[in-house]
Amino acid sequence: MLVTGASRGIGLATAERFARRDDVEQVVLVARDSPAFDAAVAHLTEVASPAVKVWPYRLDLADRAGVLELVDQVHATHGNVDVLVNNAGYTKPEPVHQIDFAEFERTMAVNLYAPFSVIQGLLHAGNRFSLIVNIASTAGLHGRSGWLTYSASKAAVINMSEVLREELAIYGTRVACISPGRTATDLRRTLAPEEDPTTIMQPEDVAAVIEMLSTDVGRFVDSTNLVVRQ
Ligand SMILES: NC(=O)c1ccc[n+]([C@@H]2O[C@H](COP(=O)([O-])OP(=O)(O)OC[C@H]3O[C@@H](n4cnc5c(N)ncnc54)[C@H](OP(=O)(O)O)[C@@H]3O)[C@@H](O)[C@H]2O)c1
Repeated sequence: MLVTGASRGIGLATAERFARRDDVEQVVLVARDSPAFDAAVAHLTEVASPAVKVWPYRLDLADRAGVLELVDQVHATHGNVDVLVNNAGYTKPEPVHQIDFAEFERTMAVNLYAPFSVIQGLLHAGNRFSLIVNIASTAGLHGRSGWLTYSASKAAVINMSEVLREELAIYGTRVACISPGRTATDLRRTLAPEEDPTTIMQPEDVAAVIEMLSTDVGRFVDSTNLVVRQ
């Protein structure tokens, strides 16, 4: 399986759930190079079940050429990616008058174009997914003041997932989209700095739902946009 944004938050919690399983062979992680990512990789390697190998890839997902190189490398090195979790996300909340267009482009690159490029790149490499989970947000359903770029990117992720679900069904691929509500992570702190993180959902709660989709029970969950919130 492959999870992007695996250095912390929901992505790290998701990677850990898969790494602890006995029926998983390889967990491929993507995030930018950082001490946090090094620590995450060390932790996952320690807690992984003996059959599981953990493989980190360090990349800025806003770099589209890099993403395409990465997916080719992953497919050539590790074989077929059965489960893909497009989790990495970025936001810089600003009111409309202050939005720097380059920031809007960066938000779209990380939140929308990277998931698209990972999926399309792997399809071009001949990959056959069993499950793709794209992480959107309740912000993609209801725009919030100051969150224009983030909300727009997540609305697009929800819609892209619906199209992919229809187009990839023929290959036996299930495509799900999860829209978490408020979850105690660094990204949430950026959006709501005053909030007490102990009063909201924890990353492990969302990770449990993502993992559930990959189980036998998950096959019966028919939703492109599953809202997960407290
Ligand atoms: N927390 C919430 O309340 C909430 C609610 C709804 C949806 N979500 C979504 O859930 C997903 C996970 O977010 P989180 O809340 O767990 O946030 P987080 O703890 O801040 O983690 C974000 C992850 O994305 C990675 N990432 C960000 N920019 C990247 C880039 N340019 N290249 C590569 N990796 C990048 C980060 O890795 P590095 O920075 O180490 O590279 C990190 O691993 C996101 O898609 C977010 O939009 C979160």
